[in-house]
Amino acid sequence: MSEKRIVVLTGAGISAESGIRTFRDGDGLWEEHRIEDVATPQAWQADPMFVWRFYQSRRRQMKEVEPNPAHHALADLADRHANFTLITQNVDDLHERAGNMSTIHMHGSLKTLRCEVSGQREERMEEHDLRDEFLTCTCCAVAQRLRPDIVWFGEMPMHIEDIYEAVEGCDTFLVVGSSGHVYPAANLVNVANAAGAKTVLVNLEAPSNADAFTEIHLGKAGEILPGILEQLS
Ligand code: APR
Repeated sequence: MSEKRIVVLTGAGISAESGIRTFRDGDGLWEEHRIEDVATPQAWQADPMFVWRFYQSRRRQMKEVEPNPAHHALADLADRHANFTLITQNVDDLHERAGNMSTIHMHGSLKTLRCEVSGQREERMEEHDLRDEFLTCTCCAVAQRLRPDIVWFGEMPMHIEDIYEAVEGCDTFLVVGSSGHVYPAANLVNVANAAGAKTVLVNLEAPSNADAFTEIHLGKAGEILPGILEQLS
């Protein structure tokens, strides 16, 4: 019997117990900031320093948080299971720090910045990279401003072909900690269902796309995911 192909998609809920705010919970980031002010290309054009400082504060926070048991449970599953793909909507590095080194970041990453001219990425997480001044690239003869390496609303998610290929070919599709508000991520459960996969959700509360899942487990991922993954592999 060939090994089951497991694909996991995570959202902000998996990092909540590490102390990273989600977006749409009561104390979520979008309760305090308008998306159009900090997470669109137009916002960056209109007031780059305001956008830059929003991301610099989230980049600084990455130095203060640790993976939680949910991140570690997924890293253990990946160690036990050859046919495993982890996709995240999150831009933190907690999956990598738990051990999932080939995590697919479909909405970008806080650790890297992108040259506005060449599009090249560079990791800039030293103390002097985390202040409020703009940073410039090392790839151009005349240094150019670096932008957050984040997929803003209105921009294309990253690695979308690889993501659809993995989901279309999986036997089990697990979503952890996502409200199912943002597409195309929120549609992946339908792609998995169409491919005949078993679809499982682990979330604090029922999200808007709850009906699409074969199995739903409500609770905190850090508390219930380890036990659920024991049965999955
Ligand atoms: N354990 C499990 N689920 C949790 C926990 C927890 N400890 N805490 C919160 N949740 C759930 C919430 O119930 C909610 O359904 O996580 C979900 C978080 O939803 P959002 O804040 O909308 O985050 P997400 O779904 O990842 O947002 C998707 O939207 O703003 C964009 O680019 C941003 O990647 C983000 C995308």
